Amino acid sequence: MSPTHSKSLILFLIFFFLRHGSTAGAPKPASFQTLNTKPEYFNPKLPPRSLSSSKKFEGSSDLVNLRYHMGPVLSSSPINIYLIWYGKWARPQKLLIKEFLLSLSSTNSAARSPSVAEWWQTVSLYTDQTGANVSRSVVVAGEYADVKYSHGTDLTRLSVQQVIASAVKSGPFPVDHKHGIYLILTSPDVTVQDFCRAVCGFHYFTFPSLVGYTLPYAWVGNSGKQCPEVCAYPFAVPAYMAGGGPGALSPPNRDVGVDGMISVIGHELAELASNPLVNAWYAGEDPTAPTEIGDLCEGLYGTGGGGGYIGQIQSDEI
Ligand SMILES: *[C@@H]1O[C@H](CO)[C@@H](O)[C@H](O)[C@H]1NC(C)=O
Repeated sequence: MSPTHSKSLILFLIFFFLRHGSTAGAPKPASFQTLNTKPEYFNPKLPPRSLSSSKKFEGSSDLVNLRYHMGPVLSSSPINIYLIWYGKWARPQKLLIKEFLLSLSSTNSAARSPSVAEWWQTVSLYTDQTGANVSRSVVVAGEYADVKYSHGTDLTRLSVQQVIASAVKSGPFPVDHKHGIYLILTSPDVTVQDFCRAVCGFHYFTFPSLVGYTLPYAWVGNSGKQCPEVCAYPFAVPAYMAGGGPGALSPPNRDVGVDGMISVIGHELAELASNPLVNAWYAGEDPTAPTEIGDLCEGLYGTGGGGGYIGQIQSDEI
């Protein structure tokens, strides 16, 4: 088996429901919206029953032995994100994703609680063996659009690294060993190995033989056309849940693919920050299949989640 990359089927951000940045006017009261999932409906974002059904989700991290394996965390400030837009992306879609990335370390004091930056403060509690914390400061340091699909429309885990290699070799990006992480986002028409089946995104590090350097990176795909019911849940739900089951929640920005990606991006960035070389924070004895921090609350979006229930989530009045 090839070494694993975090198998990610989504995070749980309650926060992206907040339209970060839109602070004009008096704050409207938040309302609670939820999918009242019956136990027989399976939440596709939850780990298999053997793992999930036995434990109580609130405070479940107490029950998972997340261990530190002596490797680095992303402690250099700021964390520089180098974004690669692979395929065709519309400007409003790019803006939504960049707005989310910038909100991770927003100092906008007008932002209401809970905020994305508050969530990232939790991620910054992870430290390395020197006591250095994950950096609270995250910036978009560079962007590169690969509109010509230079490595085709069907990528593998390894060819994703070749996309990064092209970006650092042809010059748009520096090789930023100290601060850099590379985030590849693929458009809805790009298929990626295991996408929609085992993963919605993954993170790992590049191999010197392919890229020339060891650089932490993550890939997240736009599932809008291929599998929103898997990778943009709960903004889309599987067919067996429709009719009698809970309906999908409305995507906050009315773009199911991108709204779903925001959640997966949050998941991957939290894991990249706390486990960039897959030798820092994870649970389980097998480093080829680590349980990382984003995995612990996969499919859970708020208080009381568990079983088939996503939990109580907060959203803005629109
Ligand atoms: C760094 O992490 C430690 C341990 O989790 C925590 O106690 C401390 O508050 C963190 N410092 C910052 C600045 O986040």
